Amino acid sequence: MTDHVLSSVENEVLTLTFNRPDKKNAITDAMYKVLADGLDQAERDPAIRCVLFNSSSEAFTAGNDLSDFAAQNAGGDTSRDAGERPAGERNVTRFLKGLARAEKPLVAAVRGLGVGVGTTMLLHCDLVFVAPEAKLTTPFVGLALVPEAASSLLLPQRVGHARAYAMFALGEALGGEEAERIGVAYKCLASDQVEAAAKAAAVALTKRPIGALKVTKRLMRDAAKIAELMDIEGRYFGERLQSAEAAEAFAAFFQKRPADFSKVG
Ligand code: COA
Repeated sequence: MTDHVLSSVENEVLTLTFNRPDKKNAITDAMYKVLADGLDQAERDPAIRCVLFNSSSEAFTAGNDLSDFAAQNAGGDTSRDAGERPAGERNVTRFLKGLARAEKPLVAAVRGLGVGVGTTMLLHCDLVFVAPEAKLTTPFVGLALVPEAASSLLLPQRVGHARAYAMFALGEALGGEEAERIGVAYKCLASDQVEAAAKAAAVALTKRPIGALKVTKRLMRDAAKIAELMDIEGRYFGERLQSAEAAEAFAAFFQKRPADFSKVG
């Protein structure tokens, strides 16, 4: 159990709070486990009627921990917590599928950085509150990876092909105000209001008829298609993780230098 994601239930809202500020809330396997378990619990437990994603520091999350990616590239998968789930699904996959499957409302409070899955998970949230300082990026290609979490479908749907491509391929960022304008976020508010507004919205959702909420969500998104696409993306992502290009990208990050892809491919 890690305290890098805090989990608490209050007023019928399960709040999952990223809490690894020294690493900008980069997500490890242990953190994905808490997130995935939380989503499972929320779906099963009638005392939970809404899930809120939050962060204890300004950064929402810097996405997947790149040390875990680098270990997978090198063939040593640190995320396989032997004994806990010997033949089980990876926790990141459990989390992504949990997002795809979620029937109860998901709300997010994003005050700062959302990188990679820190942005793509928002495409599964029903109400996203952001601050003007929010900076949403999906820099998969720069890491020699490919989009995940069904973002190859969901991001172009929201922002159009050209903008989505620039975000995936060039790592272009989306700021909070623009995120609201183009429909990635519900509301852009001053940073010190984001958390309170997201909490109030989550509590308001708990008062709505849950049956109607669930069917509304089912009608608004094709969960089966999203899950199927996640599987396809996951296969490419796994291949890309093993590539020489990815090895260069991860080494460059930890050596704090620009990546040089001219000699790999
Ligand atoms: N995985 C592992 N460690 C990470 C991380 C990640 N995704 N993101 C940040 N960190 C670590 C940094 O290595 C640094 O650790 P250190 O203090 O031991 O050197 C610490 O968090 C602070 O990050 P730093 O880069 O100094 O902060 P910054 O404000 O200058 O930049 C980011 C923040 C998020 C823009 C930058 O860290 C970054 O690009 N991270 C990688 C994001 C990423 O590619 N995620 C995967 C997407 S699929």
